[in-house]
Amino acid sequence: MANNYDVAIIGSGPAGYVSAIRCAQLGLKTVCVEKVTQEKEVALGGTCLNVGCIPSKALLESSLVLLNANENLKVHGIKASKISFDLNQMHERKNGIVSTMSKGVAGLFKLNKIDVIQGQAYVADEHTLQIISESDDSNITAENIILASGSKPIELPGLPFDEKLLLSSNGALRIEEVPNRVAVIGAGAVGLELGSVWSRLGSEVTICEALTEFLPNADDAVSKEALKVFSKQGLNIHLGTEVESLELVENKVRMILSNKELGDLEVDKVIFAVGRKPASEGLFDPKLGIELEDQGFVRVNEFCQTDVQNIYAIGDLVRGPMLAHKASQEGIMVAEKIAGKNSSINYKNIPFVIYTHPEIAWAGYSEKSALKKDIKVEVGTFPFQANARALTSNEGSGFVKVVVNQEDDSIIGVHALGPSAADVVQQGLIAMESNLNSEQLGSIMFSHPTVSEALHEAVLSSKGKAIHLNNRKRK
Ligand code: NAI
Repeated sequence: MANNYDVAIIGSGPAGYVSAIRCAQLGLKTVCVEKVTQEKEVALGGTCLNVGCIPSKALLESSLVLLNANENLKVHGIKASKISFDLNQMHERKNGIVSTMSKGVAGLFKLNKIDVIQGQAYVADEHTLQIISESDDSNITAENIILASGSKPIELPGLPFDEKLLLSSNGALRIEEVPNRVAVIGAGAVGLELGSVWSRLGSEVTICEALTEFLPNADDAVSKEALKVFSKQGLNIHLGTEVESLELVENKVRMILSNKELGDLEVDKVIFAVGRKPASEGLFDPKLGIELEDQGFVRVNEFCQTDVQNIYAIGDLVRGPMLAHKASQEGIMVAEKIAGKNSSINYKNIPFVIYTHPEIAWAGYSEKSALKKDIKVEVGTFPFQANARALTSNEGSGFVKVVVNQEDDSIIGVHALGPSAADVVQQGLIAMESNLNSEQLGSIMFSHPTVSEALHEAVLSSKGKAIHLNNRKRK
């Protein structure tokens, strides 16, 4: 392994590994340094693949199958009794998926002739990485360096994770026995997804959220309906509620909450889901002059270039939402920039998804955020209750909502709560990125019966032309 590269990438998450593959495709000699090991093999794939999106989706799916077996089979006229589950097997399935995916990344690296070094990298100067590993320390040099070291779960002051009773999102994916009572701190994507998993598996789940507003970044109509649906599912969501103190008593946690109506809460596990912070500490020599912003984000320009010209930073390490797809897109952009190509990202249209059931997704402006910018909008909404495919799947809750700019008829926001919400919103996003206006999207033929028709009808309804509902205005 020669130790001089065109590009050296620190981190193999969705930012780093995707960037490495694109660099290699463009003919750049590339190395990826990853510190995390799994049974002495390098566990490629970062947070998303190893302790985030993928294992959480595996458990969400298993717990949803259980919920459907218990509650929805009878709707279809199917009779089953004595349904039980084996949590161990659920974890094994999850671990198997993670391992397959991680090996898949290793295979792609091999295919693309990307070198992998196991160890903790430190940027010593503009072109040198010091690598500290269990076996030895070494140096490599590179023309360009990409920082993609990701993020870590935030601990509340004085309440460090012990991963036994006080769990980070990592520990919450490895609980070995279903706890009777679980408290989740934070009602963001992580809190709602993990809260859903343990609630479906039988825990009594209480979610404490500091803000008085539920999902403030979603469209108001979506967050209002989602709160109703999740509460009906049995998630006890308490807004305006913070943890004042915790006491560990004989394998249980006694929590004093700011919301005195709730009283003290005694639970078997506490899952902290209060956000993540960039893993920028100890990553580079401060003499390099790379600036950190608030909360430790590495300062970059729109092309993810740091204050040092040949050093880039991407993914959770830099401004913008901590989302795998945003990270990967930045990885591709930076690889292409390094290879001398024109490449950019439209940060206005980043899709957000929360994998609850029903799923929540959105992209672009909400009705409220458009109004705040003085954009005059017309909105169109279509309920899944009136969508044939959703009803045949027993998935009639929720709706699709589109936000259209009155001035030029452009679609500026798409929101969904319901079946395949992420895919429905993605279709709206493709229309937005392709500058299709609502008239044009409305004139496209959608297959019948599909849940996508709800997007079509929502767009039509913004003009009072929806077919399967009573339009408030008619044209
Ligand atoms: P988040 O920032 O989305 O939500 C954290 C919530 O905790 C906020 O609502 C905040 O008000 C609340 N909070 C903070 N301190 C609190 C306190 N002391 N007591 C009670 N509540 C408190 O962070 P989350 O859910 O941990 O996710 C981390 C990152 O990972 C986010 O950027 C998220 O977008 C991303 N992610 C995305 C997923 C997806 O796309 N499906 C899934 C999981 C994570």
